[in-house]
Amino acid sequence: MLLVAGRARTQSFHTHCSSTSALSSRHPPSPLCSVWPQVPVQLSFRRGTLTPTPLYPANRSPATMAELQEVQITEEKPLLPGQTPEAAKEAELAARILLDQGQTHSVETPYGSVTFTVYGTPKPKRPAILTYHDVGLNYKSCFQPLFQFGDMQEIIQNFVRVHVDAPGMEEGAPVFPVGYQYPSLDQLADMIPCILQYLNFSSVIGVGVGAGAYVLSRFALTHPDTVEGLVLINIDPNAKGWMDWAAHKLTGLTSSIPEMILGHLFSQEELSGNSELIQKYRNIITHAPNLDNIELYWNSYNNRRDLNLERGGDVTLKCPVMLVVGDQAPHEDAVVECNSKLDPTQTSFLKMADSGGQPQLTQPGKLTEAFKYFLQGMGYMASSCMTRLSRSRTASLTSAASMDGNRSRSRTLSQGSESGTLPSGTPGHTMEVSC
Ligand code: BEZ
Repeated sequence: MLLVAGRARTQSFHTHCSSTSALSSRHPPSPLCSVWPQVPVQLSFRRGTLTPTPLYPANRSPATMAELQEVQITEEKPLLPGQTPEAAKEAELAARILLDQGQTHSVETPYGSVTFTVYGTPKPKRPAILTYHDVGLNYKSCFQPLFQFGDMQEIIQNFVRVHVDAPGMEEGAPVFPVGYQYPSLDQLADMIPCILQYLNFSSVIGVGVGAGAYVLSRFALTHPDTVEGLVLINIDPNAKGWMDWAAHKLTGLTSSIPEMILGHLFSQEELSGNSELIQKYRNIITHAPNLDNIELYWNSYNNRRDLNLERGGDVTLKCPVMLVVGDQAPHEDAVVECNSKLDPTQTSFLKMADSGGQPQLTQPGKLTEAFKYFLQGMGYMASSCMTRLSRSRTASLTSAASMDGNRSRSRTLSQGSESGTLPSGTPGHTMEVSC
């Protein structure tokens, strides 16, 4: 039985940012140093039990049994100093399992505390993948189907992943007190450096959906050297105009907050179809114990400033960007407009058929494949690292994609519902992703 420690209290580690950590616990407060490789648990064996003990400072009491969470373990032999190589290997494997199951941390920032969960271990010379979810969701409900998709494992095993929960959206988050000033989307972006500083990560590839895509874009605009690439699903870079506000107010007269959020996440066709997926997400949002917090994030999203993106202008995303939208998604026009404002030599546009409003939930296979090409275009994930199946699929695309030269050329990934071939290269040529 592997026992994983639960809570402790927050410890300040920086003038502006302070931190807490635990393994997937609600308010994971065991203190952690600011440098990643110093793993926050110490593995020791007790009668066949591998027990990671939190590295508490001397003035902290150790976790009680009630605070320990049980995790499977098969080890029978005790691990002692002078252990055999086999035992050391097994301990290493156990430590890896521990890190792969996600470790939740919190840091204090000038705009309040933010919680994030880290999967995997940092890889030398590789950015972390950092995700930011949309309104009404958290990192799990937004990204789990994508990151746990079978083919995705081959990709993500090469990267450490940091999944941010917007404040108050983490599982078990308490409801903010009445009058709590929720951060604006720009302030949410300003919290990210505290997370990266805590983990000692210097660069990221961002994956964001809706409000999360906006937050990551804002972060990329203010920290261009930190963001190597962006996958932006359903981004709307514009502030609401007065017409949008009027429509929003009118809808608010007849619809509840959960219904408005569902209308933001899914297409009308999906909502009226009321599939199992819609029932599941309607249920999650309608009965969310932190619905008041969700409303605050929703308000921040609706009050967002214009990103003021301008093709060729000063305000533009400098890194490779993959824009993704479902072909009947509520934000299709906004994403198309966003595409027109970005540097075409750095931007791929993936319009996904049959995916509705949340392609990462409904089409994780197609998105995984597109993500793989995106990473390969950035120079990661050489096809030689991949399985034979992946290699053969990739080769058919990369050979055509490279027709117009290097990776910085214009790309449009138009994903059709039928498997396709590669049309020959006109400017901004189309690749059809076959999955
Ligand atoms: C990950 O491996 O990155 C992951 C696992 C579970 C949920 C979300 C992400």
